[in-house]
Amino acid sequence: MENSNRIPTHVAIIMDGNGRWAKSLGKERYEGHIEGVDSVRECIKAARRNGVKYLTLYAFSTENWGRPIEEVNALMELFCKSVMAETPQLVEQGVRVVMIGRRDRFSDKVRSHLDKIESATAAGEHLTLVLAFDYSSRDEITTAVKSIASKVASGEMSVDDICEQTITRSLYTADIPDPDFIIRTSGECRLSNFLLWQASYAEMYFPTTMWPDFKQEEFDKALEVYAQRERRYGKL
Ligand code: IPE
Ligand code: IPE
Ligand code: MG
Repeated sequence: MENSNRIPTHVAIIMDGNGRWAKSLGKERYEGHIEGVDSVRECIKAARRNGVKYLTLYAFSTENWGRPIEEVNALMELFCKSVMAETPQLVEQGVRVVMIGRRDRFSDKVRSHLDKIESATAAGEHLTLVLAFDYSSRDEITTAVKSIASKVASGEMSVDDICEQTITRSLYTADIPDPDFIIRTSGECRLSNFLLWQASYAEMYFPTTMWPDFKQEEFDKALEVYAQRERRYGKL
């Protein structure tokens, strides 16, 4: 038995409810996404202040390409604008940004912003901010299986060499520890293709707060919930 009465090393958040938040206030869905950027800023601060070392944010799933083109374009534009606006503060706070997900489907503009934020923040040592952008877990696992299979086919690796570690090391998250705590806002209780392999022993929390209302106080409250959890990993 391991008492988890401490700060999680890695918190991962499915930021959900932007559209419903906006609708409930008679606003456009897009305005919910804009307010959501404010919550991102707040949660980065709260994570850093609490000594969390890794914060993963699910920002755009591979399935989100299926939304109306206007919303997809607005989200891409918001990503670029936020990168420009937030990078100096991230550098100042010692936050290193790492992107996980596919990179082949973005416009050149989005891809260049993605490269820019990663290289500008590479020296950050206080917090690693992992942005899951065009990410889905099944896509990630499929890519990993292909890379392992090609190593076996070329003779670089034998089938008997494949172990759990091989798979873990072949994912986008190869250098990132598994999440200790997964939060999904808005009251939906599902993972929506997020970190399926990595979530094996994560504690889960589903507050009903919509993402635009999830500020530092809510983040702190979530850490209190985590502190009450008892992690057993199958043991007694
Ligand atoms: C989360 O909010 C943001 C993204 C998925 C990009 P939603 O846009 O899913 O908001 P709801 O769930 O429709 O309220
Ligand atoms: C999950 O939210 C993806 C992100 C938060 C980026 P969705 O709103 O897209 O998920 P579903 O469709 O409700 O499962
Ligand atoms: Mg949603």
